[in-house]
Amino acid sequence: MTGRPPEIHRMPQLLDRWTYRTTPTVVFGRGCLDELPDHVRRIADGPALIVTDKGLVEAGVVERVTDELDRADIVATVWDEAEPEPPTVSVDACAQAIREANPAVVLGLGGGSAMDTSQIAACVVTNGGKAEDWIGVEVVRKPGVPTISIPTTAGTASEVTGNAVMVLPDRSNKLTVVSPFIYPQTALIDPALTDSVPSHITAATGMDTFCHAAESFITRRATQHTRQPAADALRRTLEFLPRAVADGTDREARDQMAYACLQAGYSLANAGVILVHGLAHAIGARARIPHGVANTVGLLPVMRMTADRNPALMAQLADPLGVAADIVDPTERARAAVAVIERLVDQVDLPTTLREVGVERDWLPELAAATLSNTRVVHNSPVQPDAAELTRLLEGIFAY
Ligand SMILES: NC(=O)c1ccc[n+]([C@@H]2O[C@H](COP(=O)([O-])OP(=O)(O)OC[C@H]3O[C@@H](n4cnc5c(N)ncnc54)[C@H](O)[C@@H]3O)[C@@H](O)[C@H]2O)c1
Ligand SMILES: [Fe+2]
Repeated sequence: MTGRPPEIHRMPQLLDRWTYRTTPTVVFGRGCLDELPDHVRRIADGPALIVTDKGLVEAGVVERVTDELDRADIVATVWDEAEPEPPTVSVDACAQAIREANPAVVLGLGGGSAMDTSQIAACVVTNGGKAEDWIGVEVVRKPGVPTISIPTTAGTASEVTGNAVMVLPDRSNKLTVVSPFIYPQTALIDPALTDSVPSHITAATGMDTFCHAAESFITRRATQHTRQPAADALRRTLEFLPRAVADGTDREARDQMAYACLQAGYSLANAGVILVHGLAHAIGARARIPHGVANTVGLLPVMRMTADRNPALMAQLADPLGVAADIVDPTERARAAVAVIERLVDQVDLPTTLREVGVERDWLPELAAATLSNTRVVHNSPVQPDAAELTRLLEGIFAY
């Protein structure tokens, strides 16, 4: 990405008015878990409840956190029932656990599943009702119990977004609680906590980061302010995700991916995502597959469609994807951008067809309809297919 003046700087809407939100305190760096007691005390002088999942207990991550709190004489109890891709009923169970423990602060410790569960449940406790009642944009009425989010995957950036996602009871879709009250008070990002993530989860979560960055870069709400961190996340992910997947002990790759995730999160939280995530939510809920895997399945067809219909926009994405400056024709640059993404998907070795992830052919029209019912994501998308076109797109990735 040298020499060529970036066209994005000349697009007036990117410098138009915007609002930018993030978590008030963000702490980053290998080893920063030792600062956790200070941040707990800054919020409240009282007991903590750790919301996490059984995988984190088995990996020894929960013990590392309780040891830090013990050393500082902070009383903490652990609720380790958070479920992957959390269904609403699991979030309600978490809210009940918070009511019973009555903590001064809730610590969401885990991947996006545990962090999202903690953030929504903390709001359910103060707002009343059930988790499902608060789905939608700015529906939550008041702040929840104070939360600190501590990510253990480099993927979702839930710790710096005002979004939290749940699977609907009928499993027809995953929907989001979007609210300024969903942001935790503090995000504590210690990349060392990701060292124990197995290779296939490193791949899936890293592809989630890539999707956040790539989608938010071309969303209709992108601004200059969101494109900068998105571009940074794209460059780092292209370089370091394959390394982290190949060798989980590669600390530089882990640290860089944790930072890429954060940067992509800043962009995602403020510019939103597009149809890749829309498809992933419908596919993931129905086929019960991890979020990052579902995103990877939807990524290439959506990017190819965007390259076909809006090559000038995809040509802008080519810059942070490192496409050579001497490819100047927008259509060629758009194709080259898609080729870079194809190479990354190949390197991380995740499924790319619907059949591989357990989708049945007769689900496709319903999956297309569920995707299009997510109007927020559809509205953000620079390219907007109708139900028939989206069904054809899904047929195209059913099997090779
Ligand atoms: N809030 C947001 O903005 C946002 C953004 C993207 C995705 N999400 C949501 O986040 C969820 C997915 O989160 P995820 O991809 O981080 O996966 P996850 O939280 O479901 O975790 C996946 C698995 O990895 C294990 N794991 C996590 N950290 C580990 C570690 N350090 N060592 C060993 N094992 C570990 C967990 O135990 C779990 O079994 C989905 O529900 C998705 O919709 C939210
Ligand atoms: Fe995501």
